[in-house]
Amino acid sequence: MRKPFVAGNWKENTDSRSSVELAKAVATGSAGLAKEKVTVAVIPPFVYLQSVVQAIRSSGIAVGGQDVYFEPKGAFTGEISPAMLKDVGCNYVLCGHSERRHVLCESDEMVGKKVTAALSGGLMPILCVGELLDERDGGRTEQVVARHMKTGLAGLSADKMSAVTIAYEPVWAIGTGRTATPQQAQEVHGFIRKLLAEMYNAKLAQETQILYGGSVKADNAKELMAQEDVDGLLVGGASLKADEFVRIIQAAV
Ligand code: PGA
Repeated sequence: MRKPFVAGNWKENTDSRSSVELAKAVATGSAGLAKEKVTVAVIPPFVYLQSVVQAIRSSGIAVGGQDVYFEPKGAFTGEISPAMLKDVGCNYVLCGHSERRHVLCESDEMVGKKVTAALSGGLMPILCVGELLDERDGGRTEQVVARHMKTGLAGLSADKMSAVTIAYEPVWAIGTGRTATPQQAQEVHGFIRKLLAEMYNAKLAQETQILYGGSVKADNAKELMAQEDVDGLLVGGASLKADEFVRIIQAAV
């Protein structure tokens, strides 16, 4: 019922040439799968968005931004609006990635404003939620995830919420090689779906795609995807190698 969704977050990597080469290689490798069987998105740095969009125009692969600002325009040096992302061909945008929250000090409130602004601008936000290691060790995973969900989706109607994807990314598993076990991922994904049913309704909870992210590799993609409430994967490091990312896409179908 829920179509698998695999997104590659390139973070602060690639250059003008390698970004286009990587996008093209992913498009070639996933031909026949992307769009029909699985939603695939690549999420390059802002400055390469336009050339990546052009390079894979008819591939069925979507393109997303790594972040967005909530003000539509004005004196906000360095920021990028939802309309600008739309204008260069993005459909998706990450909101509240843990590196934005914990390295760039984005507040929960700011993330919520970004989700709302992205939706108003016609983008589909991927809201990232997830706990730090000491929060997990302290038994506070559900509390943190619930806070990220409630502040990230603050004020959103069920109608608007249907364009939002959730990505559960335990911070201790990002870029560390320490993936959550499929059972750990399922526990939190199940919790998120239950929460969505409480916050909205059972139908919306059943329809919302919940991705897992954190050291996803070709070798662990299948067992993560086998979990009932894992609908897709948000991939960082392994999305920078076209062949590995394509293997992840194949594993998700
Ligand atoms: P990783 O990153 O796959 O390199 O752990 C995932 C992410 O941050 O989205």
